[in-house]
Amino acid sequence: MKVRENSYRSIWLAGDGRQVEIIDQTRLPHEFVIVSLVTLDDAAHAIREMLVRGAPLIGATAAYGMCLGLVQGASDADIDRIAETLVACRPTAVNLRWAVQRMSEALLSVQEDDRIKTAYAEAGKICEEDVAVNEAIGVHGLKLIQDAWDRKGGQGEVRILTHCNAGWLATVDWGTALAPVYKAHEAGIPLHVWVDETRPRSQGAALTAWELDAQGISHSLIVDNAGGHLMQRGQVDLCIVGTDRTTASGDVCNKIGTYLKALAARDNKVPFYVALPGSTIDWTLDDGFAIPIEERSQDEVLWVSGKTGDGRIEEVRIAPETTPAANPAFDVTPSSLVTGLITERGLCPASRQGLEGLFPERGQ
Ligand code: MRU
Repeated sequence: MKVRENSYRSIWLAGDGRQVEIIDQTRLPHEFVIVSLVTLDDAAHAIREMLVRGAPLIGATAAYGMCLGLVQGASDADIDRIAETLVACRPTAVNLRWAVQRMSEALLSVQEDDRIKTAYAEAGKICEEDVAVNEAIGVHGLKLIQDAWDRKGGQGEVRILTHCNAGWLATVDWGTALAPVYKAHEAGIPLHVWVDETRPRSQGAALTAWELDAQGISHSLIVDNAGGHLMQRGQVDLCIVGTDRTTASGDVCNKIGTYLKALAARDNKVPFYVALPGSTIDWTLDDGFAIPIEERSQDEVLWVSGKTGDGRIEEVRIAPETTPAANPAFDVTPSSLVTGLITERGLCPASRQGLEGLFPERGQ
């Protein structure tokens, strides 16, 4: 996507063909900083501390993390150790495990001497596929926005609510939930996006708003509790969110607060869609409540970071010194609340039958 007239992806290989470059997402929206990843530890740190985040981008970074780790040793035991280090970084997004497994299988199938070359080739493929898959999600999701526009008789604008950041920054490019938005904007459909702030890390305020602003798409930042009210007042035509892990039966795990939006959408008959690549489906799980939910630091809740009037980035505490916090980072929206899934292979109901219809090779 374009950032000030330059095209960027969220991760790319540096000029030496070995180091990996990323946009440090902890510095957005106030600073655009590119960081080089040189070692396995750099990649693990980037994932754990959320310099990169979003399920598909976590997977892509882990793939390159395996490349960086092999420099120290490329035996079968090294591959297992590197894989374990990366998988331990964040527990919920299944794309991490998916990418590491795919890399391990590719590496174990070749001789030790060929492993670094094979690793970079496979990581590059994962990234290219991610871009193509997300663009396809955009094309399929565009139909939903076009239908909403047609239902409005071509009047006004299509108002879409999204939660967290499932835009191009969360993937290698295009995004999942925002890919249909970008395609609809390209197609000339008037849009307005309601951007949930997404406390505690404010991915909506910091990342989604920044992305939409850069693409010139009309949007408003709203506090996390405003969505239900807007839906009651008929000001939301559809919701589109991403997911970190979707079970084989269509339960959707996504950023904390997604479930409440799905409940409000159901109560107000607002269609609630989830956009996801096939790599986000966990075919080993049926029950969404079996998904491990990442519990993050209390400090993310107790402190907020922002830019002061005189341009300094500062952190301030927002609760009494002695108040503790709980910080579950994700929640599960049962499939019954999901109107449909938008995948690279088309739309389907959030159900085992629906998913197996699109991905028959994964069905049992
Ligand atoms: O904690 P994060 O910022 O990694 O969480 C990201 C999300 O919840 C996204 O909605 C999800 O990964 C979908 S990304 C296309």
